[in-house]
Amino acid sequence: MIPDSFIQELRFRCDVESIIASYVNLKRRGRNLVGLCPFHSEKTPSFTVYPESQSFFCFGCSAGGDVITFIRQMENLDYVEAIKFLAQKVGMTVPEDAVDDKASRLKTRILEMNRLTARFYHQCLIEPGGKPALDYLLGRALTPKTIRHFGLGYAPNDWRETLNFLKSKGFSEEEIQASSLCLRGRNGGLYDQFRNRVMFPIIDIRGNVIAFGARKLEGDGPKYLNSSDTPVYKKSRNLFALNFAKNSKSDTLILAEGYMDVIALHQAGFENAVATLGTALTPEQARLISGYAQKVVVSYDSDEAGQKAARRAINLFDETGVSVKILKVQGAKDPDEFIKTYGAQRFKLLLEGSASALDFELDKLRQKVDLETPEGKVAFLRDCAQLLAGVNNRLEREVYASKIAQELSVDKAPLMLSIEDVIKKRTRQRQKQEKRDLRMYSQVSASGQRQAPAALQSKDLKAQVSQGKLLAMLLRYPDFYELVSRKLTPQDFTVEENRLIYEAMSARFARGETVDLLSLGAALTQEQMAKLSGWLASVSGMNFTKEDAVRYVDSILAQREQKTQTDIAQMNEEELNAYIHSLASKKKS
Ligand code: UTP
Ligand code: MN
Repeated sequence: MIPDSFIQELRFRCDVESIIASYVNLKRRGRNLVGLCPFHSEKTPSFTVYPESQSFFCFGCSAGGDVITFIRQMENLDYVEAIKFLAQKVGMTVPEDAVDDKASRLKTRILEMNRLTARFYHQCLIEPGGKPALDYLLGRALTPKTIRHFGLGYAPNDWRETLNFLKSKGFSEEEIQASSLCLRGRNGGLYDQFRNRVMFPIIDIRGNVIAFGARKLEGDGPKYLNSSDTPVYKKSRNLFALNFAKNSKSDTLILAEGYMDVIALHQAGFENAVATLGTALTPEQARLISGYAQKVVVSYDSDEAGQKAARRAINLFDETGVSVKILKVQGAKDPDEFIKTYGAQRFKLLLEGSASALDFELDKLRQKVDLETPEGKVAFLRDCAQLLAGVNNRLEREVYASKIAQELSVDKAPLMLSIEDVIKKRTRQRQKQEKRDLRMYSQVSASGQRQAPAALQSKDLKAQVSQGKLLAMLLRYPDFYELVSRKLTPQDFTVEENRLIYEAMSARFARGETVDLLSLGAALTQEQMAKLSGWLASVSGMNFTKEDAVRYVDSILAQREQKTQTDIAQMNEEELNAYIHSLASKKKS
């Protein structure tokens, strides 16, 4: 078997666009490329390459897939041969099994090293040598229970103590360096990265210690040091304390800026708090959060930098469908200080009254224009109409429209009308898209399936479309899987092909492996790859939120239900016979 890591590397090196361009004359069309299909004869190009999803699809003959599928069909090779062919093209050698073993062995070793080191640091904290650090934490009002719960520790004030500890446990220098616990100095020797610091283990959702944050006690140097990225850790994809927060019953997560904020929040009973790891929120983290919460309360520092970062966070959450509130801790610099000064009860009140993201957005629009001038007012109202059209709840739209109308001393009715206009326009666009989807479906399923009775056909189309698009969505947004898998079983994919694709994806998700077109290639047939690429083509250039995913999931579930209720009642005799026949043949298979 060819290791995943190799396939991933190949994916980076074998850009679908340049590989296909060496066989097909491609022309750019928008963000995609088109050319004459190499798999069937045609005069006008219907062969499309999608750099974004690294796939291709022909609207003429329904050929499709990833770069490996393309090479297989072009060069008439099997899967492994195609990989070897591509690897050779870009100067990579297909590894023997040993190479992958080595990479995954290193990961295991680093995790083991981190786990032991976290225990070592914790031990150092409670020993006499760790008294200053322990006093520091107690002085910041952490209880011994909290210190244990988070596994906080102390890195001794020495250049080699951690190094020697790790060596005594049998780790090689190469392994130790890969863990980022020690760094290599100019003279070539290793030394401890974290010295005389309070240590915060960073733990992933499976309970692995993947990295550390480290706060200085005194002296110069940066206030916090964090592990660099290692084979087991990517700071842009993890959140501090998500391992605890994921178990909280709340549908809300609190997003704070710092380690200490999170710890203070948990201690005060807000066990749904998380923080980024020394960087601004990343899109990956926003999506990660959307897998665990419907709402997020951004609770950053009250200084200007914090508020600015909060605004940026809103934009990131916008795309994920999580609703956002911004909490301003007045009278304190951060949540940690706030709780210390005013207590948990007051923080709870603050949480409940935190300004909505909508208020925040309105504020932004206000700042864009000069509301003293008529032009400014008009521009502001136009922006408001766009913004409020995105609010699903009618009452909420009304309330905000009233507030805005009052603020500008204008009549509310015209504003409501413009909002309705924007909504209508968007609905029209959506309907158009749905029509395109249906047409897309008939392309994708062109390869002669038995015709369904007319009355069933449109519902079947819908089922096909929602299932197919959901699969494509999962490829584009793997973080949605958690949510989808909670609601759907493979059996809910009534179209067998889709079910098989979903099962192949689930197997990879369950093993914590990357799920993309290329890595699925090994588990899917070429026909399935082509279908899946067709679905990817149908969602090309579109953005999806978690809400969209939920909509598709619901529609898949609803279609399953409906077929047995409404449809049967409405069938004429011929259709009913066909339906019964189809049931009977399903039972047999
Ligand atoms: P802050 O400077 O707000 O820290 O940075 P804090 O929360 O007030 O920390 P205490 O209360 O003084 O201990 C917020 C976060 O930014 C990252 C850390 O993740 C920190 O928790 N940071 C800050 C760094 O990575 N490096 C730094 O030098 C400072
Ligand atoms: Mn702070």
